[in-house]
Amino acid sequence: MSKMKWMAGSCFALALALLAWGCAGKAGPVAPLNAMTGEHPASWIQTHYTEYIKAPAQCQSCHGSTSDATQAGGISKVSCFTCHTAVNHPANWADPLQHGRAGAQLAPSSDPKVMAGFAHCAKCHGTTYAGGIASSCKACHTKAPHPDKPWVGTSLLKSNHVQTDIGNAAECAKCHLAGANSTMKPLTTPPAGTAPGCFNETLCHGTNIKR
Ligand code: HEC
Ligand code: HEC
Ligand code: HEC
Ligand code: HEC
Ligand code: HEC
Repeated sequence: MSKMKWMAGSCFALALALLAWGCAGKAGPVAPLNAMTGEHPASWIQTHYTEYIKAPAQCQSCHGSTSDATQAGGISKVSCFTCHTAVNHPANWADPLQHGRAGAQLAPSSDPKVMAGFAHCAKCHGTTYAGGIASSCKACHTKAPHPDKPWVGTSLLKSNHVQTDIGNAAECAKCHLAGANSTMKPLTTPPAGTAPGCFNETLCHGTNIKR
């Protein structure tokens, strides 16, 4: 390649790089706000968290802190803490007793803001927990969105699936229907349309939990 051609090539590459940089500087996610009313769209309550997870800083520019209630509100004068007790995961959330026992394994709440139940985690960590707008649960767990089999601790303090509220059965059904991914299988097939439950032969156990 001649020196001239190489320079032309690198100038072109540089121009492209500058263009990309320039675009990235201006574009990036922008929280939608109606120019006439100065308000977010009507459906914003159902979607705002998705935009927040993508780029938290864009919300902080108008709403102030998203971690400290006393610094929240910003120029919009709408604090996230008027509706939320906490916006982010707590600091010790990686602790299994927190994110597992006091999070995923709790009974699902009818308040969509409460961090309880597997289905709530699925909102951000993906419908199959393999990563959605947040990371995959399998980044740590590798095989399932919970500890490896048999997932039966030897004491109640040890990690144990029996600590899971039965209200989560519909989520377990995504992977454990008719005993899938389990050494324990139901003995009979329940009538079609039976709602998933832990002890009705839809997943792993029958009415007798010993099997
Ligand atoms: C340019 C400023 C600006 C940015 C950026 C901004 N907001 Fe807002 N936000 C406002 C204003 C002004 C209001 C009050 C008017 C309204 O309710 O839309 C508001 C209200 C809200 C409300 C309450 C809506 C309601 O129905 O009561 C939520 C929730 C919200 N913002 C979330 C967010 C999130 C999450 C982000 C980041 C993805 C964000 N906002 C970015 C200015 C902003
Ligand atoms: C007017 C009340 C209101 C305000 C103000 C508000 N939120 Fe929310 N937020 C909600 C509701 C309701 C949901 C549940 C939405 C759903 O699941 O459909 C939610 C859900 C969320 C979630 C998902 C996790 C969870 O707890 O369910 C995040 C993250 C979140 N909001 C962030 C923010 C941030 C950041 C702000 C401030 C910029 C904010 N919210 C302000 C009402 C509010
Ligand atoms: C509103 C979205 C949202 C919801 C709902 C949510 N998470 Fe997260 N989670 C995140 C984000 C964002 C991170 C940090 C960045 C990442 O890992 O992608 C995170 C990180 C984590 C981490 C890693 C923490 C660390 O310190 O390494 C765990 C564990 C976790 N989440 C578990 C859960 C569990 C369990 C639930 C349900 C009870 C849940 N999450 C619900 C968004 C969410
Ligand atoms: C995204 C798929 C997925 C979901 C959702 C899921 N699991 Fe699992 N589960 C698996 C996989 C895969 C294994 C096998 C793991 C291994 O090989 O160590 C497993 C294994 C298990 C085991 C051990 C079975 C044995 O043979 O010893 C138990 C108990 C269990 N899961 C309970 C649950 C419960 C309770 C729920 C709902 C709260 C649930 N799982 C949700 C994928 C899932
Ligand atoms: C930062 C790493 C990490 C991430 C990410 C993570 N976990 Fe865990 N989780 C752990 C560890 C470590 C344990 C304890 C393992 C054990 O006891 O075998 C655990 C335990 C659990 C338990 C069992 C708690 C108990 O007391 O029985 C559940 C349920 C669980 N995790 C669910 C989830 C879900 C759902 C996600 C994704 C939303 C997730 N985890 C993401 C590290 C993580």
